[in-house]
Amino acid sequence: MNTFTGKTVLITGASEGIGRALALALCADRPRLALNARNEARLGEAARECAARGAEVLALPGDVSRQEDCARVVAQTAERFGGLDTVINNAGVTMWSRFDAVSDLSVFERLLAVNFLGAVYTTAAALPYLKDSRGLIVAVASIAGLTGVPERTGYAASKHALVGFFESLRIELAGSGIGVTIVAPDFVLSEIHRRAIGPDGAPLGISPMQESRIMTAEECARRIVRAMRRRDRILITSARGRLVRWARLLVPRVVDQIAARAIRERR
Ligand SMILES: NC(=O)c1ccc[n+]([C@@H]2O[C@H](COP(=O)([O-])OP(=O)(O)OC[C@H]3O[C@@H](n4cnc5c(N)ncnc54)[C@H](OP(=O)(O)O)[C@@H]3O)[C@@H](O)[C@H]2O)c1
Repeated sequence: MNTFTGKTVLITGASEGIGRALALALCADRPRLALNARNEARLGEAARECAARGAEVLALPGDVSRQEDCARVVAQTAERFGGLDTVINNAGVTMWSRFDAVSDLSVFERLLAVNFLGAVYTTAAALPYLKDSRGLIVAVASIAGLTGVPERTGYAASKHALVGFFESLRIELAGSGIGVTIVAPDFVLSEIHRRAIGPDGAPLGISPMQESRIMTAEECARRIVRAMRRRDRILITSARGRLVRWARLLVPRVVDQIAARAIRERR
C-alpha cells in the first residue's frame, strides 16, 4: 500500500499547473482527492482526469481569499470522505512589476489575500481534522519566500509570510503527529506567468519566461510527492535555490545578483 492510498488529500489551486500535476501524480496511490480552484469548468476537467486514473474525487469550487469558502471546502471534504489527512496549500498568484511602477496598490492586498491568508484560512479549518489523523500540511511557497526577488516585491512578501507562518506553526505542532512540509520551487512552467499581475493591476497576458528553460509542473509535482512521502521539512527544487539559502548568510550581494539575473534572463 502506498502512502496516500485511501487517504484524503485536499489540494487548493488544483485545476492547473503544479496543483493539477500534483493531483494527477497522487492518483497512482488511489487517494481520495478534494480539488479546489475558482474556475469550475477547469476544475471539473482536472477532477475527471483524476477519476479516470483511479482516484475518488470531489471538486470544490471556491476562492481561498474568502475565509467562508475555505471553511466550506474543508467541511465538505471531511463530510464526504469522513476526515482529512493532508492539506496542500498550493493556490497562488504572482506579479511582474517594479515597485516604483505599480499604479494600483491593491495588487499587494490581492497577493497577500490569496498566497498567505488563503493558506491560513484553509489550515485553520483543517487543523482539527489533521489532529485526529496526525496528518500532513504542505505549503507551496517559492524561492521568493526565502530571499528577495526583483519585480516580485508583493509576491516575495506573501511567500516570506507563508514560510514564517508555517515554520512557526510547525513548532507549535511538535508532538501532535502533524507534519509540515514547505515547498520552495524555482521557476515552473505553468499558467502563473501569463496571469502575473502587472503594474496597473491587470494580468500580463503573455508569459515573459523562457518557457523551454524551466522545470515542468509534472517534474515539480513528482518532487513534491516524494518530499510528502518522507514528510521532509523543506523541498527546494533547484540547485541555485539551495545555494541561495546558505549563501545569503555569507555573500548576500552575490545572492542579490543571482536573483536579479534570474529575472533578467527570465529563467
Ligand atoms: N510556476 C512557478 O514558477 C512557481 C514558482 C514557485 C512557486 N510557485 C507557486 O506554486 C503554486 C501554484 O502555482 P502554478 O505555477 O501552478 O500556477 P497556475 O498554473 O496559475 O495555477 C494556479 C492555481 O491556483 C488557482 N487559484 C488562483 N487563485 C485562486 C484563489 N483565489 N482561490 C482558489 N484557487 C485559486 C488557479 O485556478 P483558478 O484561477 O480557477 O482559481 C489554479 O488552479 C502557487 O502558490 C505559486 O506561487 C509557482
